[in-house]
This record gives sequence, C-alpha cells and structure tokens, in this order.
Amino acid sequence: MEVSVLREVSEEQNSEFLEEFAIDVLTGLSKPDKRLSTKYFYDDRGSDLFQKITQHRDYYLTRTEFNILKESSSKIANLISEDEVDIIELGAGDGHKSELVIDGFLGQGKRVNYFPIDISAQALKQMEENITHKSELEIHGIVADYLQGLKFLKERSKRRKIVLFLGSNIGNFDRTQSENFLRQLWKYLNSDDYLLIGFDLKKDVEKLSAAYNDSSGYTRDFNLNLLDRINRELGGNFDKDKFQHLGVFNPKLGAMESYLLPKEKQEVYIKVLEHRFEFEAYEPLHLEYSFKYTKEDIERTCQHTGFKLKDHFTDKDQLFIDSLWQVVKN
Ligand code: AVI
Repeated sequence: MEVSVLREVSEEQNSEFLEEFAIDVLTGLSKPDKRLSTKYFYDDRGSDLFQKITQHRDYYLTRTEFNILKESSSKIANLISEDEVDIIELGAGDGHKSELVIDGFLGQGKRVNYFPIDISAQALKQMEENITHKSELEIHGIVADYLQGLKFLKERSKRRKIVLFLGSNIGNFDRTQSENFLRQLWKYLNSDDYLLIGFDLKKDVEKLSAAYNDSSGYTRDFNLNLLDRINRELGGNFDKDKFQHLGVFNPKLGAMESYLLPKEKQEVYIKVLEHRFEFEAYEPLHLEYSFKYTKEDIERTCQHTGFKLKDHFTDKDQLFIDSLWQVVKN
C-alpha cells in the first residue's frame, strides 16, 4: 500500500497534543456540568476495547451494518455508473465493511482506487492486513485528518468519489456539529460525488441500553480507560473503582449518553494542571453522545447539507441504515 503522510506526529506535535489534552480536561472538569471529550478515548487500550465492543453480541450496530452492506453492495455499485471510482473512507476501521463495498464494485468489473484516511498510520497498516489484494484494486492510505485528506484528494484526482462514513460515527456529533461536518465534507467533493453514511436508528430503549451497557463490561472499561489515561499522561490520581459507568437514553435529545458517576464524595488531583477537582457523590461526569436518527431525521439532514438522497439500505428489523447521498452543486 502506498501511503501519503499529510500529518506527521513529531515530538513537538506530541507536546502540543498533551497541552490540548490538559486544557480540555481542565475546562471540562471546571464546568458546573462536568464533562470529558470523547476525542481522548482512542489510545491503544481504548482502541482495543472499542474493537471488543464492536464484536460483542449486545452491540448490534457493527454486525447489523456488516449484514446490510453484504446484502446491498452490488446494488450500491449498480447505482453508480462509472467504470472506475475512488472510494474514500473516513477512519480506517478494521477493513471488513469497506471490503464489502469495494467488492460490490469489483464484482461488476469496475476498477477501484481505495483511499482510507486516518490520523493513525498504525491503524491504516492494521486495516490493510484485512483487505485482500486484487488486480483491479489500488489501495492508497492517507495519514491525515478527514477534511485535510479530502482536500488533498480533490486536488489529486478527477474521478467520481464515493466517501464512506460508516459505523454510526456521525452519531458522536450533536445535530449542529453533524450538519457543520457534512457541509464541510460537501465543500471538498465535486457535484455528483457520493456519500455512503451509516446511521443508527431510534429504537426500543432496552435494545439501546444493552448495547451501551454490554454484559461483559467492555463499554464500562472503555469509559473508565479515560480516567487511566488522565492518570498516566497528566499525573492524575483518579481511583477507577470509585466510579460507576452509566449508559442512558435521553429521549429529548434522541441520544444515548455515557456518564461516569462518582460512588462517593471525593477529590481528584491532577499534577500537570496543579489543580484539585471536587466530585460530589453521584455527580454526573458526561463522556459521550451517540445520537440516533429516524428516516425523517436522515432525510432532513441530507437536504440541509447540500445532498440528494439516492437510496436507503436497511436490515429487516430496521435497526440501522446506510444511506447513499449524492452531492448537488449548481
Ligand atoms: C464510535 N461510535 C460510533 C460508537 C457509538 O456507538 O457511539 C462509540 C461507542 N461508545 C460506546 N460504545 C460504542
């Protein structure tokens, strides 16, 4: 796999990252409604735990989307008439779902140039191991953040583009952030390019609750790992045993929310910040939103952000939708 590195993590950038992490923790824990950013979930252990979540029986999202794509990949390829396309994936993932989409095109005799974009070169390498090399497929990894990578590709290739934003990653943005992100994405695409985007649908609360409170405790450990990371990288003294994980549906927002709840009143000192934070017993510490959508929400978002809907692909229980949109520019 050829790789273009648009963003290198140098010593200096690493210290900038730590500085930003420290400031985000300081501002988040100083708010009346304490919060931490999900941006810091995915260190090595966090990524490993996330993989375990996606394979867990309670977390229906990944396997449902896999089955939808398996069922629909040739229909998707059929809707796109070009003989050669660029498939651009935002986030490397493990490659299994991407391969289904790619195979849909290859199966119809089309050539595919696959460009996974990820800030981690390591994640790109791991993903490549799961993709079988074929003669009509070119793989070119891009180490960059999403929009930087898209801009690079817009300047580099005139072929029809299909952007994959799978896995309900859009759900971790709130409604305003997601529209802003989609508008930026639109800006870096040409008229008639495509976006295939995965949305988790609104559903029975028990099903949602089981997915975000899995019976093996991976989601709990995934959230508590953030406290470990603060301890390790910022010199904190969080005692993980004194916090409880809570995944709960907020019907007003239409989102699952993750919290850590301190089981007793306590103080936590963070050395890098030279600051002591007080936690009341059961005072919520907010970590994550996972927004859920109805078909109507999806269609509204599509229209508001400069796309037209080509088709929805869903499973028989209507748990999840992969929606194919096309860029409209005048
Ligand atoms: C990455 N993202 C789509 C996952 C989700 O479902 O919101 C992250 C996750 N958090 C807890 N479980 C999974």
